[in-house]
Amino acid sequence: MVKVYTIASGKGGTGKTTVTANLGPMLARYGKRTCILDADVGMANLGLILGLEDLPVTLHEVLAGKARVRDAIYDGPFGVKVVPCGLSLQGFQQSNPDRLKDVMTDLVSEFDILILDAPAGISRDGVIPLTIADGVILVINPEISSIVDALKTKILTETVGGHIEGAIINRVAGSGDEFNRAQMEKLLGVRVLGVIPEDANVRRASAGRSPIVAKYPSSDASRAFKRISADIVGIEYIEEQTPVPREGFVDRLARVLFRAKA
Ligand SMILES: Nc1ncnc2c1ncn2[C@@H]1O[C@H](COP(=O)(O)OP(=O)(O)OP(=O)(O)O)[C@@H](O)[C@H]1O
Ligand SMILES: [Mg+2]
Repeated sequence: MVKVYTIASGKGGTGKTTVTANLGPMLARYGKRTCILDADVGMANLGLILGLEDLPVTLHEVLAGKARVRDAIYDGPFGVKVVPCGLSLQGFQQSNPDRLKDVMTDLVSEFDILILDAPAGISRDGVIPLTIADGVILVINPEISSIVDALKTKILTETVGGHIEGAIINRVAGSGDEFNRAQMEKLLGVRVLGVIPEDANVRRASAGRSPIVAKYPSSDASRAFKRISADIVGIEYIEEQTPVPREGFVDRLARVLFRAKA
């Protein structure tokens, strides 16, 4: 049975696209047939941070009724499939968000997990992804405006008959003025699925057109993404060992000589 998640927030810039671009590859790596779709049809950038742009067919053409979704599926890291949007304003104007549900129906037989990267705000193209998901995952930063906007998105989701799966707290810097996990659970009334630290490698990875889990797999944020992905798949996350550098010739010789002297 396919599971459809929508990554939403309310407030812009909380990390929805980053979460989509990292959970997708990890879920694929953990054995789930996974497809991530850019449902932010106006301000699309999922393809951009994965190095997929200038493509002949995207979700724009599919939502405009000019192409089939199977022609808009591209390969991403670790075997994840990606349905990006184009970057043109014209492509956005021609796309009809009501077609998204049919697009999902076309994909259900081929995948175990579908993830929709939703736009910020509560516009029409933002509401549709909330209604067609089995579970909405809220991406929240540990500060008041992000929490209030997430609460609005939660209420909106429930009003339109959707279901909130939980929340991911992103960009946690550990400073004293931040809301903590328990406070956020209490304020929002949702389960926190995981906490992603502030990590400069996120931006560095995007600049390199790759998700952090592929580019810097042992960074703090990558470990958090792996833990959340493992939880979703229902497997135990085992922290990877930091590789021990192999002993060079001089070190080995020194060790042998030192032992001989002792
Ligand atoms: N954990 C993190 N540590 C550091 N930077 C991060 C982290 N998560 C996201 N960012 C940065 O924050 C910015 C916004 O992230 P992103 O584009 O994923 O947000 P968004 O919610 O999709 O935004 P929008 O609402 O515009 O679609 C990006 O520059 C990204 O690199
Ligand atoms: Mg985004």
